Amino acid sequence: MLHKIDMKKILPAITVCVLFSAKAQSQIADFPPDTVAGIPANYIEAKVGEYTLPDPLKCADGQIVADAEVWSSKRRDEILALFEQHQFGKSPQAPKNLRFEVFDRESAAFDGKAKRTQATIYFTNDADEPKMDVLMYVPAEAKKPVPMLLYISFRANSVTVDDPGVKQGFIWNRERKKVPAGEGGGRRFAPLNVPAVLERGFGFATAYYGDIEPDFDGGAEYGLRGLFAKKGTQQPEPDAWGAIAAWSWGLSRALDYFEKDEKVDASRVAIMGVSRLGKTVLWAGALDQRFALVIPVCSGESGAALSRRNYGENIAHITAPTRFDYWFAPRYQQYGDDVNSLPVDAHMLLSLIAPRPVLLITGNTDKWSDPYGEFLAAVAAGPVYELLGKQGLSTEGMPPAGDAILNDIGFFMHDGGHGMLPADWPVILDFLQQHLQKEE
Ligand code: GCU
Repeated sequence: MLHKIDMKKILPAITVCVLFSAKAQSQIADFPPDTVAGIPANYIEAKVGEYTLPDPLKCADGQIVADAEVWSSKRRDEILALFEQHQFGKSPQAPKNLRFEVFDRESAAFDGKAKRTQATIYFTNDADEPKMDVLMYVPAEAKKPVPMLLYISFRANSVTVDDPGVKQGFIWNRERKKVPAGEGGGRRFAPLNVPAVLERGFGFATAYYGDIEPDFDGGAEYGLRGLFAKKGTQQPEPDAWGAIAAWSWGLSRALDYFEKDEKVDASRVAIMGVSRLGKTVLWAGALDQRFALVIPVCSGESGAALSRRNYGENIAHITAPTRFDYWFAPRYQQYGDDVNSLPVDAHMLLSLIAPRPVLLITGNTDKWSDPYGEFLAAVAAGPVYELLGKQGLSTEGMPPAGDAILNDIGFFMHDGGHGMLPADWPVILDFLQQHLQKEE
């Protein structure tokens, strides 16, 4: 049975020892890597260490946030700025006039059940590269603008969705070349169920993250960040934006396009991504409050999992120069040795989504991503949701794999590992329907 949590016990963020039930612990068991980038990884709860979470409801000047007004006019901005300075880096403003070209408008797809539109989005007025193709479907019978699920994909649109009408896409291969999708691989990860989304009255859209920026060290040169880089600047600033911020920025441009497409209700656009793209949708949702709902799948370290827990991947692993330092602001790396001095943690990233619904999907054998760390972050974001009149998880006990909580903060741990599984789909659809479908 889930029981109501006493929020005062959770925050102000007290020293969290490990509130880990034996039941939940037994569910998290599987092979994980022992050492990554020469750094050992811990999977023993007793060795997670003690830590104190920064209080999302205490302002820098000590003021306690007691109402929604102080949250939205003061504390939220402080937390957002901390994430920009210390973790993801600072993104540029949206372009003044977004340029886009619709090259396929409302063609019949999926046996006539959907209308497909494809558009190319250019990020500035004076450059043609990089550019992003957005593929979208709306239910054929829709009479009104529909809510939309926007999925950021590891793969080009032509291989993300099974529809021969989609324009052949290109992806970046291991040799840092753009090749036609289908030949160069690209991780699958997600058994997408587009028809099921349409049947619930939602539209579905996708874009390939490599259209925004390729995912390798030095990829900035070929991608969005290269477009914005000041000529002659050698050393990036400590708060320069990383690749995750670039991908997030691209998602906001898709939303700019939806605002201009009368088939879409742009006030009801949900974003979803897996793994590093789960981290991406969290940051996109934090930065751009027009996104109505956020679904990070197995986002793990530097996504929804608490960095202060030394369990699975930690900041030292993720920012190792041989791994993913380029995803983040340069300053973030310094917290690998001293995570307790990081002024933010995952619960504060989740609180930036509040009051909008957020659904965390994790996997019980995905130890590297620390599912329990995601659960604890969700618990600790609860007081912010409650302050804003919404419902957090309302439990301190992690539900077993297969049981979903679908409050304004949702949590679902599938029985399995890293990535999206078929079992996630009914949960995703119920969550979307519950929170974004208007009563007609
Ligand atoms: C690596 C990385 C994770 C990331 C994952 C992914 O495992 O360590 O932080 O989430 O890749 O994106 O698949």
